[in-house]
Amino acid sequence: MTDVVHTPRVFSGIQPSGGLTLGNYLGAMKRFVQLQDAGDMPTIFCMVDLHAITVWQEPARLRHATRELCAGFIAAGIDPEKSILFNQSQVPEHAQLAWIFNCVARMGWMGRMTQWKDKAGKNSENASLGLFAYPALMAADIMIYHATHVPVGEDQKQHLELARDIAIKFNNDYDVSFFPVVEPLIEGAATRVMSLRDGSKKMSKSDPSDMSRINLTDDADAIARKIRKAKTDPAPLPDSVEGLADRPEARNLVNIYAALADTTAEAVIADHAGQQFGTFKPSLADLAVAKLDPISREMARLMQDVDQIDRILGRGAERAREIAAPILAQTYDIVGMVRAQGA
Ligand code: TRP
Repeated sequence: MTDVVHTPRVFSGIQPSGGLTLGNYLGAMKRFVQLQDAGDMPTIFCMVDLHAITVWQEPARLRHATRELCAGFIAAGIDPEKSILFNQSQVPEHAQLAWIFNCVARMGWMGRMTQWKDKAGKNSENASLGLFAYPALMAADIMIYHATHVPVGEDQKQHLELARDIAIKFNNDYDVSFFPVVEPLIEGAATRVMSLRDGSKKMSKSDPSDMSRINLTDDADAIARKIRKAKTDPAPLPDSVEGLADRPEARNLVNIYAALADTTAEAVIADHAGQQFGTFKPSLADLAVAKLDPISREMARLMQDVDQIDRILGRGAERAREIAAPILAQTYDIVGMVRAQGA
């Protein structure tokens, strides 16, 4: 096996399975924009609609969520000229490579995935086969571009390790060094945005309480109201970050403040030590409105021209295929699939 050095390339994906929250923005999109703007690696961002349907999605909602996610990416600062921005199903090479990976990955590997166990629950007999194979498709998303850097949240770490295992087994089985072993770029706990109603739960688009999250489509009033009503404890802000250790709700609001202000929790504490939440929350609300309201307005503006969004996704898919098609063709050759020369 000769060692191939792969050109650095960033890939990440988000499921269009519901609305976007502050958690998606601070935990993922903001980071994606930084990677794009740093300009030292090409960046590819994908709306993973094929992943979304591993659990039931109502078709009209899925279509809407995919377009809204695209609008969200752009409003957050992803430039569809600088980055490649597209939806997964328009690049058939993802599903084609996923099939090969289904034949490389082992049942046992998949069965150990905590997301599978959580989502399939006790009734795994009734879960979709796609949900079980989800991590192989995710590995294919990354490998079809020979991506080397994958920014994801902590909850996707196990899936990325599996993607590495698939790449290693493929390379070993076929005695090649074709697929890169990816570097996870895991987001730190500081950007993990928790529920506004329960500081021990992740902010989620599927939480039954809308007050638990800030949606990127919320207007200024809704954003300010949700922050004012966020759960807290009666104590004032401590004078050090350690003082937040057993105060998950307080810590969450400080972390959100820090992430929105592009600073650290330490700096926020230094500025606000001793403050009551009655004072801190209005400052946080002002900051959140200042940062998020322009995004929600831009999303709404973009969503008025759905044809334009579809054109952007189509163009992104074309650019993605220029990279993906030759990698799939080489994979097929390695595996022993016959094709006419020049095809
Ligand atoms: N599984 C990821 C999530 O739910 C989404 C995803 C799909 C992804 N394919 C990917 C992330 C490839 C990074 C790389 O968050």
